[in-house]
Amino acid sequence: MKKITVHASTEYDILIQEGLIKSCGDIIKEKTKAQKIAIITDDMVNDLYGKVVEDSISKAGFDIIKFVFPHGETSKCADTLVEIYDFLCENSITRTDCLVALGGGVVGDITGFAAATFLRGMDFVQIPTTLLAQVDSSVGGKTAIDLKGGKNLVGAFKQPLCVICDPETLRTLTSEIFSDGMGEVIKYGMIRDEKLFELIAKHDQESIWADITDIIANCISIKRDVVEMDEFDTGERMILNFGHTLGHAIESYYHYETYSHGSAVAVGMCMMSDKTCDAEIANKLKDCVRAYNLPTDVPADIKELVPLCGKDKKRAASQLRFIVCKTIGKAEIHTMPFDSFSAWMEK
Ligand SMILES: NC(=O)c1ccc[n+]([C@@H]2O[C@H](COP(=O)([O-])OP(=O)(O)OC[C@H]3O[C@@H](n4cnc5c(N)ncnc54)[C@H](O)[C@@H]3O)[C@@H](O)[C@H]2O)c1
Repeated sequence: MKKITVHASTEYDILIQEGLIKSCGDIIKEKTKAQKIAIITDDMVNDLYGKVVEDSISKAGFDIIKFVFPHGETSKCADTLVEIYDFLCENSITRTDCLVALGGGVVGDITGFAAATFLRGMDFVQIPTTLLAQVDSSVGGKTAIDLKGGKNLVGAFKQPLCVICDPETLRTLTSEIFSDGMGEVIKYGMIRDEKLFELIAKHDQESIWADITDIIANCISIKRDVVEMDEFDTGERMILNFGHTLGHAIESYYHYETYSHGSAVAVGMCMMSDKTCDAEIANKLKDCVRAYNLPTDVPADIKELVPLCGKDKKRAASQLRFIVCKTIGKAEIHTMPFDSFSAWMEK
């Protein structure tokens, strides 16, 4: 088993092993004195992994309650959050009990926020079941819900008790959702680790399974290192946003319908690399992106996308901060007046 310890405001372990989900009860038992475990999950994940997780947790001696909500981003909202609070109240959950987030980033984000706020804070464990959740959203302590006005507008920093990461669960993902997570996986190689990039680039969507556990563990280590430097997202953590300034603009231009987050980030990385890298490096990135069925460009004109970059939350006043990787494995934070950025991108 691989173990990565995160030294944040609270310290916790991320455990990674194929088949680990079957032992989640014993792992949780080591971390908490809770009597009762509240599993929070979505309907799709519940059908696939609800029983195995319940069996393991109940075998470890806990009482279990379970809240299941409809899958999808629209559930990451205040209404679902209040339903979770009411469910926890009705079942007399106390501050010493523990929540378990079983699912992708949607489940992890809303459960983490419930754990940060219910009874002014209680413990929670993450069992991430999408590639994106394993390499990104379950690590680092950001939790949130969406509002009508935008994504992740209400949230809190809340570190879990531990993260139980079972790469075997990714085998039931659709190829689109797997690809979506690959956008972030490729990003980790680009910003921090040339060897990791080469390993990812050596594979494609079919052959990656041979190295999936190592690749996930490498990505998690990179996110851990960045989070340890900047837990509360005031500076260095920004390098995780490579591809995201243009990526967010693409998602927004297409009303969050045509391009998934990972696809938009992949295009954002390719567009930025076309501007800032030698052709050899930009082409290497594009080949890798294509190997995981992700797009390298979009039909929209850059002139239409650039104004939407201004809406990215990383824009401070009239300055735009964005990430550049001139070589593979090394990210730099650049700051430019927004007008200069527009002129530069449109050149
Ligand atoms: N907290 C953070 O730091 C952070 C970082 C990145 C993204 N996020 C958030 O993560 C969310 C996206 O996460 P996501 O991509 O995991 O989406 P998701 O949670 O909606 O999962 C995608 C779909 O996959 C299904 N699914 C989950 N696990 C499965 C499995 N093993 N087999 C088959 N189907 C499975 C789900 O039911 C869902 O339909 C967004 O809300 C985003 O804002 C948070």
